[in-house]
Amino acid sequence: MNYKSIIANKICEYIDMDINTLENLIEVPPRSDMGDFAFPCFQLAKELKKAPNIIAMELKENFPLEGFEKIQAFGPYLNFFVDKSIFIKEVIENILHQGDNYGRNNVGEGKNVIVEYSSPNIAKPFHIGHLFTTVIGNSLYKIFKFQGYNTIGINHLGDWGTQFGKLISAYKRWGDEEALQKEPITELLRIYVKFHDEAENNPELEEEGRKYFKQLEDGDEEAVELWARFRDLSLKEFSKLYKTLNVTFDSYAGESFYSDKMQEVVDEIDKKGLLVESNGAKVVMLEEYNMPPCIIKKADGATIYATRDLAAAFYRKNTYDFYKNIYVVGKDQSLHFKQVFTTIDLMGYEWAKDCHHVEFGLVRFLDKKLSTRKGDVILLDELLNEAVVKTLETINEKNPTLKNKEEVAKKVGIGAIIFAYLKNSREKDIVFDWKEMLSFEGETGPYVQYTYARGKSILRKVGQRGDDIDYSKLSSKEEFELVKELEGFQSAISAAIDKLQPSMVTRYIIEVAKAFNKFYNAHNILNSENEEIKNARINLVRATIQVIKNGLELIGLQVVEEM
Ligand code: ARG
Repeated sequence: MNYKSIIANKICEYIDMDINTLENLIEVPPRSDMGDFAFPCFQLAKELKKAPNIIAMELKENFPLEGFEKIQAFGPYLNFFVDKSIFIKEVIENILHQGDNYGRNNVGEGKNVIVEYSSPNIAKPFHIGHLFTTVIGNSLYKIFKFQGYNTIGINHLGDWGTQFGKLISAYKRWGDEEALQKEPITELLRIYVKFHDEAENNPELEEEGRKYFKQLEDGDEEAVELWARFRDLSLKEFSKLYKTLNVTFDSYAGESFYSDKMQEVVDEIDKKGLLVESNGAKVVMLEEYNMPPCIIKKADGATIYATRDLAAAFYRKNTYDFYKNIYVVGKDQSLHFKQVFTTIDLMGYEWAKDCHHVEFGLVRFLDKKLSTRKGDVILLDELLNEAVVKTLETINEKNPTLKNKEEVAKKVGIGAIIFAYLKNSREKDIVFDWKEMLSFEGETGPYVQYTYARGKSILRKVGQRGDDIDYSKLSSKEEFELVKELEGFQSAISAAIDKLQPSMVTRYIIEVAKAFNKFYNAHNILNSENEEIKNARINLVRATIQVIKNGLELIGLQVVEEM
């Protein structure tokens, strides 16, 4: 039983409005004396051209009291006070019954959602920004999937473009085979940087690079073979990282995948009269939209990043007939995506509106500067390692006899970084602060994980789950507030989908953990006043850790049983 949907269903009898819209209007008031749920009547007032307080009164009149202690029309609001004992029983039993499926939904059934995330450039370091898209995308992927959408995770690898011609040229001149085997990305970066340095005094190099890219595009055997090796070696490196982060993809169709699919799109743009010549290049003019032109072909005839993105969008539409096509990419590319989406719109495809650029801010460091490109590589590996090492130190201090310490430190330490990335609205910059993010207190991953482990430790001391529990024994404020939090999981998920913000789920988990710790500190669960109270409380603990586990799973964290 879902209270919001019960309320929305009933209101639906009063006004013919979309049930989901109504459900989304329902609020959880900040204070309990204002009710447990509230329905603001403003929107209905607009529809019905009636004063909102009159609507609130009329609604109240016809509302059956079943399941509620009282329903109150308060100005433009209809306030609902749940019947606490029914509410608590319903919520806890529902969670325990559904287990890992609590919060799962099928609203997305039959709808294909593409989430494109991570998308690093091969032969280049995977930098801190790529970590950001990776964790946001991974979470959105899981959230959509949990709501029944058919979700497709795509890693749009940056594996095509003139830079690969340069890389082939550089490798033939200065490549060190042994170094390539040992540390492929470092070696590829070294020769790429060298190429640019040398090219400053020797412009012929640029020409050579273009020539090799042309060969690559024409399918020349040697060029393709080298390119494929660079790609494989890079992917191997990236895979290690994905494994560490527990992130997967359904497709690695990156830029190269579209190398033979661009001409068709270019032709169509041309046929529709949108392709104009500008300084030798072929572009789509977007001045009407206050944007610089979208370049489709460079003066030398080569296609570019935007051309590949156009081809990719069409391929995705034709292959997956998507409901949403989501790009998790940094804010700095916002103009690029606006240009691409507007071009699609100009071509006459209304699905351009289903393409979403999910942007995010920058990562800054309190103590270190992230400047050299080389620094970035080391830093990311270092970063994850450091999180694990530091967490291990804390565990050694707090719980030296813990088994599987390394494994726990890995889950908690890396989880702490992911959690910190997903804690606030993604548009906000992140200021990286070790002390804060690894702390076992405050709004952190370790704090939530610790709360879970604390619940588990209680459960290890009691027997099997009992039936026949008298939930009316849960009569304190802390218990009711905790149950109310647990009930809100579905709303948090829906909000995350609506706003494409995993932080909605993260914030929710934090609130659950806080409510649990309040309850834990106020009541001695194992030494409760009597057996009946104790049994009811233990099931509340069970329900809480289930919700924390399901929530953490959605943002890409794995729980630990003990820490
Ligand atoms: N490879 C690009 C980069 O590292 C990101 C790709 C974003 N996705 C896209 N469809 N353009 O900056």
